[in-house]
Amino acid sequence: MNIKDLENLKDGQQVIELTGWVDNIRDHGGLTFVDLRDFTGLIQLVFDKSGDVDTKLKNEFYITINGTFKKRDEALINDKILFGDYEIEVTDLIIINQSKTLPFQIEDSIETDENIRLKYRYLDLRRQPMKVNIMTRSNTFKSIRSIMNQLNIFEIDTPTLIKSTPEGAKDFLVPSRKSPSNFYALPQSPQMYKQLFMMSGFPNYYQIAKCYRDEDSRKDRQPEFTQLDLEFSDASPELVKSKVEEIVKFVFSDAYDCKIKTPFNTLTYEEAINFYGTDKPDLRIEEKIFDITDIFTDTSINFLNDILSSQGSIKALHTKELLTRKQIDDLDTEIKELGSNGLGWFKIEDTNISGPLAKLLNDNEKSKLLSYGSGTLLFQAGIIKEIANFLDVIRRTVFQPLNNDVYSFVWIEDFPFFEVEDGELQPSHHPFTSPKSNEIFKDDPTNATALHYDLVLNGVELGSGSQRINNPEIQTLVLEKWGLSKEEISERFGWFIEALSYGTPVHAGFAIGIDRLIAEVLNQPSIRDVIPFPKTQSGLDPLTNAPANIEEEVLEEYNLKYINKDE
Ligand code: AMO
Repeated sequence: MNIKDLENLKDGQQVIELTGWVDNIRDHGGLTFVDLRDFTGLIQLVFDKSGDVDTKLKNEFYITINGTFKKRDEALINDKILFGDYEIEVTDLIIINQSKTLPFQIEDSIETDENIRLKYRYLDLRRQPMKVNIMTRSNTFKSIRSIMNQLNIFEIDTPTLIKSTPEGAKDFLVPSRKSPSNFYALPQSPQMYKQLFMMSGFPNYYQIAKCYRDEDSRKDRQPEFTQLDLEFSDASPELVKSKVEEIVKFVFSDAYDCKIKTPFNTLTYEEAINFYGTDKPDLRIEEKIFDITDIFTDTSINFLNDILSSQGSIKALHTKELLTRKQIDDLDTEIKELGSNGLGWFKIEDTNISGPLAKLLNDNEKSKLLSYGSGTLLFQAGIIKEIANFLDVIRRTVFQPLNNDVYSFVWIEDFPFFEVEDGELQPSHHPFTSPKSNEIFKDDPTNATALHYDLVLNGVELGSGSQRINNPEIQTLVLEKWGLSKEEISERFGWFIEALSYGTPVHAGFAIGIDRLIAEVLNQPSIRDVIPFPKTQSGLDPLTNAPANIEEEVLEEYNLKYINKDE
């Protein structure tokens, strides 16, 4: 029997073959108290010391006991646990398995290094908070499958040994013995396959899909992660967004017992950047960025003049509190590390303005600044795209969410089709996304907008999707404008363009990052905490020591040879 089954027992009844782990041992004179833990709960066992069990048992031994279920004395009731008002007087004990000394205690709150926790993840997962995380994950999958069945969306799987699918990261490659010098890629997403389903005539698709991206791990990124991947035929962005809202609303209610409001708000990409400095705004923070360029059209502050004459603007945030010099200096250091020239600021106190630039202000500027009221005005000057990131950091550092317990969803749409990364054009989503207007894209792709929409939750990009290109000529054009040669297009995407050429329906889709969703709901610092066996920040698995060295003879079988580039 398990601990939850004790619910069915009454005071004085026999407990037969209750099994679990020794959670804690306490010695009290003639009695030994042992907390027994299993997946379902915790109960106190009482051993009469004359049986000398206390010398036999240690933490995490796996045991079975028989005994008597007894109501505790009123004074000894522990109302923090399920069976805190009962205990079991043990009559028989069988030790099923002993445990070595533990690398860390199986307690709710431990300060053990994460690498050690991951090396012994099977022990870490015995801890109650981790159990809650993993069970929430399991419930999320269950709810997803339930709403998908209700909506009659088909679960179909896609291969994982594939040719590269571009999603902006590097691929994990898999060599093949039978095909020397050729490699499979693990999917960065099932993107092209789900589009093939629409071309094959399936009306819709979903998959709880493993995706692999060889990119730096961060708190919200793992090399291997899980998406709820969706695609709909004859669909528009509006249809996809309303399905996503329905799915998210159901999962929140069913798996997390939380009611959320739909439809979600929408911001354009431009609004998000202008008001929040980011395309992933945390709308629980009320304060917005505002423009103060007009105040300085006649300024004698030279650097502002230079910026304004090269099409720059001045964007500001206003705190009601007077920030301390240390707060200002710390913020200045933080944004300088990100590439800002420094933090501009004025302190406004009644009719007085102070700060390093205050003495250069003319009367007109002063009176306009005073109208913001007492507090600190923090600003950045430049081209909005170049200063947005600094303003975002300032906003999130200086202001706190009004309420941490709300879920603030927002759609972001009208993204630029291309963004410039390291001097090169990259699709802001992926190259299968339809431009909003094919005509504008043809004329000026760098200024074209994409039919791409993101869903943001509390400042985290939860999911992304788009209307797909369903015309082979437009698909070829997009790949050309991306900078691919005719040969590259034919070699990498020829098969896909061919597939698009046989009467492809209009289609659109979306993918939600399931790990991010659960981490956000459980308010966990990193998605590693909601993934059973995650990789470290450096992409390693301390439990199995993957990735592992492969012996030369084995490499040879794959026609591979290790070259140390540093030698
Ligand atoms: P995208 O690349 O934006 O879109 O991914 C969709 C969502 O997946 C999550 N995600 C990640 N989660 C953890 N670790 C990562 N390394 C990681 N990368 C992405 C995010 C993200 O919003 N094929 C398209 C979807 C589509 O167009 O239908 C795609 O994969 O939550």
